[in-house]
Amino acid sequence: MSEKRIVVLTGAGISAESGVRTFRDGDGLWEEHRIEDVATPQAWRADPMFVWRFYQARRRQLLDVKPNPAHFALAEMAQNREHFTLITQNVDDLHERAGTSNTIHMHGRLETLRCERSGRNEVRMDENELLDEFLTCSCCSEPVRLRPDIVWFGETPMFMNEIYAAVEQCDVFVVVGSSGHVYPAANLVNIAKAAGATTMLVNLEAPLNVDAFDEVHLGKAGVLLPDLLKRLA
Ligand code: APR
Repeated sequence: MSEKRIVVLTGAGISAESGVRTFRDGDGLWEEHRIEDVATPQAWRADPMFVWRFYQARRRQLLDVKPNPAHFALAEMAQNREHFTLITQNVDDLHERAGTSNTIHMHGRLETLRCERSGRNEVRMDENELLDEFLTCSCCSEPVRLRPDIVWFGETPMFMNEIYAAVEQCDVFVVVGSSGHVYPAANLVNIAKAAGATTMLVNLEAPLNVDAFDEVHLGKAGVLLPDLLKRLA
């Protein structure tokens, strides 16, 4: 029998045990900040320094956090299986630091910054690149301001063709740590189900789209996910 195709979608909940704040829990980022003020193209146009500083603080935080057992369990699976795709809504680099090198970041990444003119991104994580002042690109003849390499509300998520292709062909679709509020990510489980996949969830609380899952495991990702993945291996 050929190996099962597994696709995993992770959200902020998988990084919670690493100390990265989620968005919609009681202590989440959106309790303290309005989405409209920091996570839209309109906010960037209206007050770029405010938006820049919000993301510089999140970029600095990457230096203080470490992958947890859930990230490591996924990395082990990625290294041992031929048919495995990891999609994340997270902009941190904890999947990479755990050892999953080809993670699909559908909402962008914190380590990279994007040139506003060419659209090219570059890793800018040196100590002096994590301060509050704007940075300029190294791709244009006259360097222009860099923006966070993040997909904001109202913008199109990245790599959607690749994501749909993987989800439409999978046998098992697992979601870890996502509240099911944000589309198109929240709809991927329905696409997987329509394609005949078994759908599984690991989440602290029941998310909005809980009914779309065949198996629901409520609890912490760092505790539950390693055993679930062993069962699938
Ligand atoms: N283990 C598993 N799940 C957890 C844990 C944990 N240790 N801690 C929290 N959770 C769950 C919460 O119960 C919640 O349902 O993770 C979920 C996090 O939900 P959100 O904060 O809404 O994060 P996410 O679904 O990834 O958000 C999607 O929203 O603001 C945007 O672009 C941002 O990518 C993000 C998108």
